[in-house]
Amino acid sequence: MNEGPIGIFDSGVGGTSIWKEIRKLIPNEDTIFLADSKNAPYGEKSQDEILSLSIKNTELLLQMGCKLIVVACNTATTNAIKYLRSNYQVPFIGIEPAIKPAALKSASKTIGVLATRGTLSSSLFLSTSEIHANGITIIEQEGTGLVQRIEQGEAHSDEVRNLLMKFIEPMLRKGIDHLVLGCTHYPYLIPVLRELLPEHVTLIDSGEAVARQTKSVLEQGVLRNRTDAKGVYRFYTNADVAILDTFLTDVNVPIETSFLEF
Ligand code: DGL
Repeated sequence: MNEGPIGIFDSGVGGTSIWKEIRKLIPNEDTIFLADSKNAPYGEKSQDEILSLSIKNTELLLQMGCKLIVVACNTATTNAIKYLRSNYQVPFIGIEPAIKPAALKSASKTIGVLATRGTLSSSLFLSTSEIHANGITIIEQEGTGLVQRIEQGEAHSDEVRNLLMKFIEPMLRKGIDHLVLGCTHYPYLIPVLRELLPEHVTLIDSGEAVARQTKSVLEQGVLRNRTDAKGVYRFYTNADVAILDTFLTDVNVPIETSFLEF
């Protein structure tokens, strides 16, 4: 049993979509969330920059006493998790585009992946897609411009809608029947995507799977908090707290959000 908090970081506010799944599944765990919005988007940075930002976030969470770290960012996971796992003692949970379930369920044998440039160009993504590419066509699309706009609180703007149209049209023409959301910011686009996509296209997002994996790794490591009380949920951003708050308005439990220089 370990009463320390779970640490979660993302390049910005997107990882709150993962935090929501974790809190739903294991509400008695304390959590500390770092939104590195000052440095978003990670997806446009070099692998070295993504790695050093991931190290900075990890070390801060470790200083705060975290017992496990969730890298709630596909870009940071695919570029840095191998290094983090081999250089720090705590367990790390990562998130990668969920190609496998999409490939297994696809009837048209054609799936789309919407992710950042940093994710799509990573060697981890390339090897995962090769493993599942067997008989499946994977249409990759960089979501250039989406993260910046979501970070500015404009997930529902016409500009975002137009970008999404531009990104999904070529994939639809190629016959995708599953669209993998390969960035933790993108679940906030699901309402618009659902309007734009034909009904037969299934959206795949791995937030719930990450929460299940977090729970199971805590259990295996005997790291679960055994108290029944609700957890304490702290969120830090190094940019605008008001924007972070807008991503947490649907959370009906007490949370603490604040500014922190990191
Ligand atoms: N949430 C991050 C991800 O999952 C966004 C990356 C970015 O900052 O570009 O990839």
